[in-house]
Amino acid sequence: MDHKPLSTRESWLALEAHYQNIRNTHLRDLFRADPMRGERMACEAAGLYLDYSKNRITAETMHLLLALAEECGLRERIEAMFRGDKINITENRAVLHTALRARRDQHIYVDGADVVSEVHAVLECMSAFSSRVRQGDWKGYTGKRIRNIVNIGIGGSDLGPVMAYEALRHYSDPALIFRFVSNVDGTDLSEAVRGLQADETLFIVSSKTFTTLETMTNAHSARQWLLRSLHDEAAIARHFVAVSTNEAEVRRFGIDSANMFGFWDWVGGRYSMDSAIGLSTMLAVGPDNFQAMLSGFHAMDEHFRTALFDRNLPVILGLLAVWYADFFGSQTVAVLPYDQYLKRFPAYLQQLAMESNGKHIALDGSIVDYPTGAIYWGEPGTNGQHSFYQLIHQGTRLIPCDFLGFFNTLNPLDNHHNLLMANVFAQAEALAFGKSADDVRKEGTPEWLVPHRTFEGNRPSNVILADRLTPETLGKLVALYEHSVFTQGVIWDIDSFDQWGVELGKVLAQRIVPELANPEVTLTHDSSTNTLIHLYNTRHSTH
Ligand code: F6P
Repeated sequence: MDHKPLSTRESWLALEAHYQNIRNTHLRDLFRADPMRGERMACEAAGLYLDYSKNRITAETMHLLLALAEECGLRERIEAMFRGDKINITENRAVLHTALRARRDQHIYVDGADVVSEVHAVLECMSAFSSRVRQGDWKGYTGKRIRNIVNIGIGGSDLGPVMAYEALRHYSDPALIFRFVSNVDGTDLSEAVRGLQADETLFIVSSKTFTTLETMTNAHSARQWLLRSLHDEAAIARHFVAVSTNEAEVRRFGIDSANMFGFWDWVGGRYSMDSAIGLSTMLAVGPDNFQAMLSGFHAMDEHFRTALFDRNLPVILGLLAVWYADFFGSQTVAVLPYDQYLKRFPAYLQQLAMESNGKHIALDGSIVDYPTGAIYWGEPGTNGQHSFYQLIHQGTRLIPCDFLGFFNTLNPLDNHHNLLMANVFAQAEALAFGKSADDVRKEGTPEWLVPHRTFEGNRPSNVILADRLTPETLGKLVALYEHSVFTQGVIWDIDSFDQWGVELGKVLAQRIVPELANPEVTLTHDSSTNTLIHLYNTRHSTH
């Protein structure tokens, strides 16, 4: 691998020169010049179809981006990740979310232990437990079956479970109510348990570390809520289970380690929805559907690991993200799922992409001199069209978009699905080709209004299509983005698997907590923080 700084590498310099040549080329001209472009710049693998023809690229751009991937050692880095090398260098950890969906007969070793057999052992415990709860064999303290499941977690211990629950709601057991608590704001827990019977409620405390302030605070309050109804510590064992890597802390909380589902330090929080952190998902959709989701993840893993880069969906997506972030200066990527079940997918991707690649220090400790991780955001279509698409179509910023859609809906209702998908195709078409001033004039628009009604176009997008939203498809989609994020991190030469940037705020909050409880304390922060704390202490009522 070439250790020259990224911005001095041959392929990078070639891309800079190439960018100057094509920065003003319009997608209209690119499509006119190549009538087959829409078929040529598309790729289908593992059941996902990616049309990337509406990007501001030529065959030369792809050639240079692929050369960049080679020069950055992407192939070796993929192998290193799948092999279990400790590529999370700042935490000296392997990065093996791919082992969570490895086939039973595979072997992957971390520090001499075969992690695949450990993964399957936990999956079996999860399946057995889920089946008992789903069949009503797991009884609450008073002998009633469990009807409500509340997952308490935050970050990767919440966003994945919530997203997957919403995405797979169609497959979920309607007899079970699912709620998700993440925020330390007491409103979150209060609203989540509102109307629930304690003796029919199971709490899953999901926390890799089992020390996270928000989760532990919520878990303790949930415990009190339960005991207010059931009045006996013995009830905890029937109504609390834990998902964690920290057995000692789980026991200290009072949860029997028999009711703990483990995972490992080589699973990053934002890469953990297919580990035991997915227990709520398995409870909702059942072990078979969960297994189907894992198969989907695995299919995309195999594609990423083995496909040539020019036919490799995550590699193509990742390189395009680099192209816009670093050469066009785009700051954001809009993820626009045209499926209501994927309404939390953009929020999930935010943590995946931004906690992974929001870094400005390269692996060798130097400060990067190029932009890294873009801001991911989005809302399901068609709602976004009536809200923020105006800015994407006619604003001053270039916002690459990923449209996600399905050939078939899970809820056929008259013409709804055709209308929904017509909007996917129309939006991507409008963004790319726009509407010229001449066309606007031909419609009889008065001259003063023409500029307002003109669409310059040349706004890039990807369209990702799949047959229908099954558990398997969800696994493929998530793995697609996981590996795209990885590809970007390799190019940017950063550690995509640590998250030191979340630490400082946590430490400062811990310092401020006792200052809020004790208004007499002398405040030694800056004048702004001191004033804010003082104001809070004088106006906050403790009733
Ligand atoms: O604060 C960030 C973070 O560490 C995330 O990376 C993680 O997903 C989240 O907190 C929750 O951590 P835990 O699962 O240990 O409670």
